[in-house]
Amino acid sequence: MSLSVVVLAAGKGTRMRSKVPKMLHAIGGKPMLTHVLETAVALQPDDIAVVVGFGSEQIKTTFPDSDYLWVEQTEQNGTGHAVQQAMPSVSGDKVLVLFGDVPLIESSSLQQMLAALDDNDLCLLTVNVTNPFGYGRILRHGDRGTVAAIVEHKDADVAQRKIREVNTGMLAAKRDRLDELLDGLDNDNAQGEYLLTDVVAAANARSWSVDAVTLETEVGALGVNNRAQLAELERTYQALRAKDLMESGVTLADPSRIDVRGTLACGSDSYIDVNCVFEGQVTIGNDVRIGPNCTIKDSTIASASVIEANCVIENSQIAQRCSVGPFARLRPGTTMHDNSKLGNFVETKNSEIGQGSKVNHLAYVGDSDVADECNIGAGTITANYDGANKHRTVIESGVFVGSNSVLVAPLQIGAGATVGAGSTVTRDVGKDELVITRAKSRTVNNWQRPKKK
Ligand code: UD1
Ligand code: MG
Repeated sequence: MSLSVVVLAAGKGTRMRSKVPKMLHAIGGKPMLTHVLETAVALQPDDIAVVVGFGSEQIKTTFPDSDYLWVEQTEQNGTGHAVQQAMPSVSGDKVLVLFGDVPLIESSSLQQMLAALDDNDLCLLTVNVTNPFGYGRILRHGDRGTVAAIVEHKDADVAQRKIREVNTGMLAAKRDRLDELLDGLDNDNAQGEYLLTDVVAAANARSWSVDAVTLETEVGALGVNNRAQLAELERTYQALRAKDLMESGVTLADPSRIDVRGTLACGSDSYIDVNCVFEGQVTIGNDVRIGPNCTIKDSTIASASVIEANCVIENSQIAQRCSVGPFARLRPGTTMHDNSKLGNFVETKNSEIGQGSKVNHLAYVGDSDVADECNIGAGTITANYDGANKHRTVIESGVFVGSNSVLVAPLQIGAGATVGAGSTVTRDVGKDELVITRAKSRTVNNWQRPKKK
């Protein structure tokens, strides 16, 4: 049987008090709606329709190259009305309804619903919660235990409000059945809306079979209506990522103090200290140590390398047994080869640091190729920018650059050459040469310092 997924994302999200549509607020660095859509894609449906209304242009431009079917719901007349708008666009014999603001639902739970649907006309997803306030309550038949109806919080009486089994909102249905049930909806309720939940009682009235899958934990059902819930869900999401990392063999100094905003793949026996933020795609090998307060984005760190405290690393490749920081900033395009070192207060950009080379203190290496076994002294700057264009500095293997040198690019320093400390080098240096541009040191005997008047 073919499958369509309908994602409801037309609501305004008034309680977010934001100009950004609620579905675009991020969990783990990506929009809530992206989480839901990725889960939908994992089910390999025939098509996915997204019902948008408030901020629809902004939502659509967030997914420019997708083949989602965008459905406009100009007035938000309720979840049932929203699904109605999508039905003409989708082709599946089975339809699964998801909510754009319930981002942590797992595809395995949805698979269970779809499996249950094979022998039923409708399948709900429910969960038992400690505080059911605001949720639709699940009413079950006393005799058979099957679901009889969903009553929305606003419509529920005192006894019904005590029910702790609630509707997650997600629902799977046989397409022809759903079409008929949606046609019969009315808006005679406390909200004055066409409620998707009303299809359950209507199905019962027709003696159609309604099943329910119940989630084991609340996580998959958690929705976001305000910023406090957004923050709560973020922590829940991060706790799950921390658990994944620990299960894959990583030691976390404190699993509640790590943030993964993207994908972090990590080998075994690596150690991550507190307050590190990982963004985009980050890959870490085995036996890597990452100190506290590091931000690492779209980078690779190979085995046995050490990143000391307070480093910022972006779009960089770090090979094995390298050492970085504390307080180093690796800007995009930095490639460190095996056993190389970038020390404290060193900034690099668009540069290669060869095997075993060291840039230990307070230096800027930009647009440079530093070959193997070089030593770049403290305070050295590659002057790569002439005010209009960027130029490269090529430093061949075994070069020693004394402290506080300025290497004015374009520049090539031959293998084994030495740059005397304090030099400003403006012309290429040959193999094994010494270059020194420092003013000669002069001493004056018995120098009298000025006296205060
Ligand atoms: C809904 C369920 C409730 C369930 C709860 C779980 C209904 C009637 N109620 O209530 O049983 O316990 O979710 O979180 O379904 N939307 C549209 N167009 C509309 C209205 C809503 O696209 O006209 C979208 C919203 O953007 C949102 C989703 O549908 O993504 C749910 O709407 P919301 O208003 O949050 O429903 P709840 O009151 O939370
Ligand atoms: Mg809601």
